[in-house]
Amino acid sequence: MARFLRNCWYMAAWSHEVGDALLSRKIAGNPTVLYRKRDGSVTALLDRCPHRFAPLSLGSREGDCLVCPYHGLTFDAQGQCVRNPFSEHIPKAAQIESWTCADRDGIIWMWGGDHAAADLSKIPDFSAVRDQPGRKVLRGYTHVKAGYEFCTDNLMDLSHIEFVHKGTFGGEGVIFSGCHEVIDEGETLHSNWWMPGVPAPAPTRPPFAEGQLTDHWLDMRWNAPASMQLKLGATLPGHPREEGYNIGGQAHIVTPETESTCHYFTCNARHNDVDNLELDAMLSGLFAQAFDGEDKPVIEASFANLDGQDFWAAKPLSLGIDQGGTRARRKIEALLKAEAAHA
Ligand code: FES
Ligand SMILES: [Fe+2]
Repeated sequence: MARFLRNCWYMAAWSHEVGDALLSRKIAGNPTVLYRKRDGSVTALLDRCPHRFAPLSLGSREGDCLVCPYHGLTFDAQGQCVRNPFSEHIPKAAQIESWTCADRDGIIWMWGGDHAAADLSKIPDFSAVRDQPGRKVLRGYTHVKAGYEFCTDNLMDLSHIEFVHKGTFGGEGVIFSGCHEVIDEGETLHSNWWMPGVPAPAPTRPPFAEGQLTDHWLDMRWNAPASMQLKLGATLPGHPREEGYNIGGQAHIVTPETESTCHYFTCNARHNDVDNLELDAMLSGLFAQAFDGEDKPVIEASFANLDGQDFWAAKPLSLGIDQGGTRARRKIEALLKAEAAHA
């Protein structure tokens, strides 16, 4: 069976990362070169010339075309060779794979399968973290040396906050007084924590004071392959959520690079104090500490501890709190099987 899904939308980059320059990034096992065409749209091509396999990202642009750095074959934005410096003849095989891209919500999405099957309506909604007036979005990126589903496990099971994030988000015991629910809507999974009557957690202070009792929630949404959105907030006990403090939202989007490495894109949107640069710096530091300094080491160490052994073959213990990650893994397996059967 293939290692990675084809028919899904992969986050390839943040929009601001892709411009005139050639961005090289391995996505789901494929070396990929991304760049923005003159019309502003983004193209993604296999970053490997079919002649002697030079990375095209080391070459140069000629308008929307790419010139190979090695012997000068030139490819258009669809991956078709349009010039062979050595002959009038362009061999039929002088064609490289290209992928459909979409630029939405500040994210470059790349469809991993055939162009004709790329359905824009299937791109997960991340409008909550799109740039807009009255909102400040802080974006980050971390490279993780672990299979991407180990990040899914981490994010779909936020109980780890109590242990991993003692120094940043949590460790105040609120998870233990909450209830956890996994909701399966087919293509979408939800892993939600509801914690009534707990002291206002750090991210909601202010507006709540330290020690103020609140009803607190952490709602994680998942779509294949590993595109997750977290919505969190707190309200006075018994009050509707709309009356409380809803933190704008976070994106936690994981894209496989290889079987043992992945790209972890994070961002946080807020609606308070949007021009406060000191708050930006404080939050950026907090997220870097939490995601790079706390999550990443434990994810990488757990993955390395399996020494390449298959996850299920190692018989992972189930504690119930891990239902979200387990279901996500099962969904990926079913999708891979369906693609294999179709092929
Ligand atoms: S490797 Fe690209 S033209 Fe030879
Ligand atoms: Fe975490």
